[in-house]
Amino acid sequence: VSKEFQAMHDAHELLQKFYHHLLVNTKEGQHALEYLLERGFTRESIDKFQIGYSLNSWDFVYKFLSKRDFSPEWLEKAGLIIRRERDGNYFDRFRDRIMFPIHDRNGKTIAFSGRSLGHDEPKYLNSPETAIFNKSKILYNYHLARPSIKKMQHAVLFEGFADCIAADRSGVENGIATMGTSLTDEHIALLRQSVQSVTICYDSDKAGIEAAFRAGNHLNNAGFQIKVAMMADGLDPDEYIKKKGPEKFRNEVIGASLTWMAFKFLYFRRGKNLQIEGDRLAYIEVIIKEISKLDKAVERDHYLRQLAAEFSLSLDALNQQQKQMFFAEKRASAGKKEPVNKPVLIAKQV
Ligand code: GTP
Ligand code: MN
Ligand code: MN
Ligand code: MN
Ligand code: MN
Repeated sequence: VSKEFQAMHDAHELLQKFYHHLLVNTKEGQHALEYLLERGFTRESIDKFQIGYSLNSWDFVYKFLSKRDFSPEWLEKAGLIIRRERDGNYFDRFRDRIMFPIHDRNGKTIAFSGRSLGHDEPKYLNSPETAIFNKSKILYNYHLARPSIKKMQHAVLFEGFADCIAADRSGVENGIATMGTSLTDEHIALLRQSVQSVTICYDSDKAGIEAAFRAGNHLNNAGFQIKVAMMADGLDPDEYIKKKGPEKFRNEVIGASLTWMAFKFLYFRRGKNLQIEGDRLAYIEVIIKEISKLDKAVERDHYLRQLAAEFSLSLDALNQQQKQMFFAEKRASAGKKEPVNKPVLIAKQV
């Protein structure tokens, strides 16, 4: 580890401690602490996740760390202060925000995400990408959740920090979250080191459901076992836990999560009126297509029967159409592996 990396890490560790102290012990942080407690955060989870508060000051961090021999150049590179073009003066990036430290998989603090207290935009302000922090490689809480993930052979994936923390205090300790980005190949590679089975528990609003569909496909293609947990009324996990309590969250959300296929049935049904013939046929077609992607004949048969029963269709007709799609699907995926200028080979695959 180079001297500069060490200095960046040290600055983060020091600030994390100080932000936390400001939140829990000082008058300046009192309104922030009240805000968190009001939202349902507990003192225990505030300590466990080392949540803090950044003062409403333009140069507190700059002065605090400069006095301790951290050079402004490196503090700027660490994303903690910003240099103003106009006069070359430095000012703090995070002001008057709830501070969530971000850790790498070994528990080293490498960045912060600061939440505004009121309705100031942006709601969450993240550290910029730095030599030690790359958002698309970081899973929030992975360092704390990993033992539990390994023990249970299962992880729960959330959309936000607040959800991850609320779930943890509800007894769901194998939770992790991305930082407002979609799930990347790097995230999946990181997960794969400890687990192959994931419950996606994103917000149950429109954006969350769309994101769950994308993340699910991504994980499914990477060979993971997937379930999807849903909440009524478009709630997110944190709101749900505050409203209905930890027990209901464990039993009726996480415990009742849908299989990936059942989620897709629901997903493709949204916005369609199945009383209308056109919508109904479109739905049946897209579901047969999804069934065709399944590798196991027994599973294909199972879902086809389910579909036949629900819409009073003949299983023969469904089977026939499914087989056509199954081979089309096979041809398409075989075709993708062949160079485009060799159509003869593709034909031979059939
Ligand atoms: P709360 O409102 O505090 O409960 O947050 P939330 O987790 O419910 O936020 P939301 O569902 O809106 O967004 C999910 C995640 O996206 C957050 O945890 C953040 O990581 C990220 N995010 C949300 N808003 C912003 C933003 O304004 N800027 C950035 N950079 N990220 C955001
Ligand atoms: Mn952490
Ligand atoms: Mn959301
Ligand atoms: Mn949310
Ligand atoms: Mn929320």
